[in-house]
Amino acid sequence: MDRIEALIAKMTTAEKIGQLNMVASTSVVTGPGGSRATHEGIRAGAIGSLLNLSGADNVREVQRIAVEESRLGVPLLLGLDVIHGHRTIFPVPLAETCAFDPELWERTARAAAEEAAADGVALTFAPMIDVSRDARWGRIVESPGEDPWVASALAAAKTRGFQGKDLAAADSLAATAKHICAYGAVNAGREYASVDVSERTLREVYLPPFSAAVAAGTAAVMPAFIDLAGVPMTINAPLLKGWLRERAGFEGVVVSDYNAIAELLKHGVAGDLPEAAALALNAGVDIDMTSNAYAPGLPEALRRGLVTLADVEASVRRVLKLKQRLGLFDDPFRRGVASPNDGGGESRRGLAREAARRSIVLLTHRRPVLPLPSETRRVAVVGPLAAAEGEMLGSWASAGRCEEVVSILEGLKANLPDSRIDYAAGVDIEGEDETGVAAAIDVCAHAEIIVLCLGEAAAMSGEAASRTDLGLPGRQRAFAEAVLAIGKPVIVLLCSGRPLTLPWLFESADAVLATWFLGVEAGHAIADVLTGAYNPSGRLPLSWPRSVGQTPLFYSQRATGRPTEPGVHYSSSYLDAPATPQFPFGHGLSYSRFVFSDLRCEPTQVSAGGTIHVSVEVRNDGRIAGEVTLFLFIRDCVASVARPVLELKGIRKLVLAANESSQATWRLPVQDLAFIGQNLEPVLEPGRFEIHVGQSTDPAELLTAVIELTP
Ligand code: NOJ
Repeated sequence: MDRIEALIAKMTTAEKIGQLNMVASTSVVTGPGGSRATHEGIRAGAIGSLLNLSGADNVREVQRIAVEESRLGVPLLLGLDVIHGHRTIFPVPLAETCAFDPELWERTARAAAEEAAADGVALTFAPMIDVSRDARWGRIVESPGEDPWVASALAAAKTRGFQGKDLAAADSLAATAKHICAYGAVNAGREYASVDVSERTLREVYLPPFSAAVAAGTAAVMPAFIDLAGVPMTINAPLLKGWLRERAGFEGVVVSDYNAIAELLKHGVAGDLPEAAALALNAGVDIDMTSNAYAPGLPEALRRGLVTLADVEASVRRVLKLKQRLGLFDDPFRRGVASPNDGGGESRRGLAREAARRSIVLLTHRRPVLPLPSETRRVAVVGPLAAAEGEMLGSWASAGRCEEVVSILEGLKANLPDSRIDYAAGVDIEGEDETGVAAAIDVCAHAEIIVLCLGEAAAMSGEAASRTDLGLPGRQRAFAEAVLAIGKPVIVLLCSGRPLTLPWLFESADAVLATWFLGVEAGHAIADVLTGAYNPSGRLPLSWPRSVGQTPLFYSQRATGRPTEPGVHYSSSYLDAPATPQFPFGHGLSYSRFVFSDLRCEPTQVSAGGTIHVSVEVRNDGRIAGEVTLFLFIRDCVASVARPVLELKGIRKLVLAANESSQATWRLPVQDLAFIGQNLEPVLEPGRFEIHVGQSTDPAELLTAVIELTP
């Protein structure tokens, strides 16, 4: 009998259920209520995993109690939300997605895993791979944006990064792909609301990133809080068992979201905790995160015959296997070697700076104010986010420390040593206080150039942070208008966890950069871009709306019978605004100008099993080196199901010196032309396909070729 079976054979029913019980420590709070850890509970074998305990010493102490003082000595599994860095905080996920670079996504996850594991953590609740198309939803900041292909690439890269080559290694974390499924489609963008999307949309849009995470070997998966067409995901057996385990072949652990099993009572699908526990367990949820539903509920559910001991044991087996894969049985203390004073170290800060500057998107550049001329002598840095280091940490700061963050102001001072930099906040992020405006305007009036730092507080996006108004909060608009009215060059830095609908600003500022929340190196990274030390290369992973009324907004719309046609009344449009986004998916300016031409597909007649070689010529027409990102889209012109007008199938990035030309190439498997047919299974239908390549989804920017799939 192997170790795990031997252990299960020795366990009492209460000890088995204990392995499925995850409770919270008091050191970090990430949800309401929730069961709390006690040493007695660990000693009694009633707790199998802990959430939110940070610090190596604390972790080692609870682990010692579990291993040395509980009857069977089963080690604890320590879980924490290590989302965009642990001690060294990297850009928020939406920002980092703008780099469109799986290698970077993997490196930052690896660095986060190293730091968190050294702090005793063994399981992270990341990556969040919910396709997000609604900017009202606060969790868009944690997401990879609107596109399933991008979300899938990110899912694989992050899983590889967190888990490393060997999950048992002292610096590896088990990853949790979350939140299955379609959480981003909450009704009207309202957090925790219901979701009702079609089976087709699930398969085309929301499930592929989870397939990618499973294929990359994710150790865990977390169901979303929401109900999907009435069935809460926590008890959604067709998806958790039928799709995830049976179809996708997932063999790891399903961990509930925080308190989600107890919340089944509020969903109104369970009459009491034993019923809730039985529904969740029978749907395949192995670990109860902080509901205290399994511990008291499963014994009663067993008595009532709602669950079988064999099903309880199947979950216990999966949990113990994960502990074994993590090496916890061999050495429960291999993680947790950091001392509290360990900082991120130079190389991690270097990585944070690289990730941050590659996350910045130059949205507009109406007048040539960037990069800042070297002879600039006097700069005004104003606005409520200029010296707001805490905000730069973003929505999941893990063990990040405010005092280790380089604010925008500090970054500019450090990187513009020959310029005088004057600062004034002007207004707060929120609130009505305008007493600081006059002083800030005075600072601006004496400067040659103004850097205006506007946006949201970090807490205005993330969990439980939906908004109906996507404008600037507080008195920021009035302040910005007063600054713009001075008539000096104004560069706006927009810090936010979502796209903000600010057409008036995009039309009036000289340049606007999306700087999201960039983490510990925010200020240096922004200075790198403003000074030209780094040529901006970030690209939007979502369609940026002009107004809230356009949300949810995404490029991959199905073809309608009456496509959008400006000026045509009976066409898919609005009376009061254009249907197009403010900035399309993929948008992002550079200090270089890239021209591309000569799109070729070979062969142009293809059949199943083949490969299409796609190539395009690219030239950097600018005066400095820069990085270009090219997107490959397809369109299935005639199919048995109305297909999206564009579907992303590949990305290429090239770094080109001034005047340098190169070729971007793709090998597109013909299989990638398949789609979910009328019977909800993948089909490959012969016919004409358009291949489009461009820097964004802006139709004016796309090159087009046509291929034919023969029967
Ligand atoms: C609730 C969130 O939905 C989830 O993403 C997170 O991992 C847990 N809380 C734990 O903090």
